[in-house]
Amino acid sequence: MTLPLVATAVADPVGLVGLLSEAGLPTEDVAEPGRVFLRYATEGGEFVAIGGFEPLGAAVLLRSIVVVPSYRGYGVGGAVTADLMRRGREQGAADAFAFTTGEPTFLAALGFRRAERAEAPAAVLATRQAMGLCSVSAVLWRKETVR
Ligand SMILES: CC(C)(COP(=O)(O)OP(=O)(O)OC[C@H]1O[C@@H](n2cnc3c(N)ncnc32)[C@H](O)[C@@H]1OP(=O)(O)O)[C@@H](O)C(=O)NCCC(=O)NCCS
Repeated sequence: MTLPLVATAVADPVGLVGLLSEAGLPTEDVAEPGRVFLRYATEGGEFVAIGGFEPLGAAVLLRSIVVVPSYRGYGVGGAVTADLMRRGREQGAADAFAFTTGEPTFLAALGFRRAERAEAPAAVLATRQAMGLCSVSAVLWRKETVR
């Protein structure tokens, strides 16, 4: 993380549903296995963001990135994304993917590029995010996790 944020694993992701819904992000599968969610706080303990990822072998699917509105525009989203990518890399992922439904997206600002579904690993295309939660018109983004 580039900011001094403190990450804590979320034990009960169902508690994130309200935040995700308000941000217009999928919630239906948060309690299913294979997802990791984190809460991010300042060093002073103030809650600033959540983020999630699905480790998928050589790839990691980033998801559920929400910054508390009053903290937007200060680099928190970028720091959370970098932390999720680092965690994916630690679990063996060479590439990070994410689905979005709209443009422009802050992922482009962070160096992600638009990807065709044909270039995504089968494991990414088999996720709930790819198969149902995101529409077929959802945009797929990709970035190497290696810096
Ligand atoms: C999108 C979101 C996570 C960004 O968080 P943030 O803390 O404001 O982002 P940052 O300050 O780290 O910005 C990182 C970069 O993204 C850019 N950016 C931020 N929000 C953006 C947006 N909505 N559209 C395009 N670019 C954006 C910033 O300008 C910055 O670029 P720069 O480094 O070139 O200046 C936050 O607005 C949010 O929680 N939105 C609601 C949920 C959501 O849309 N999540 C993303 C799903 S992919």
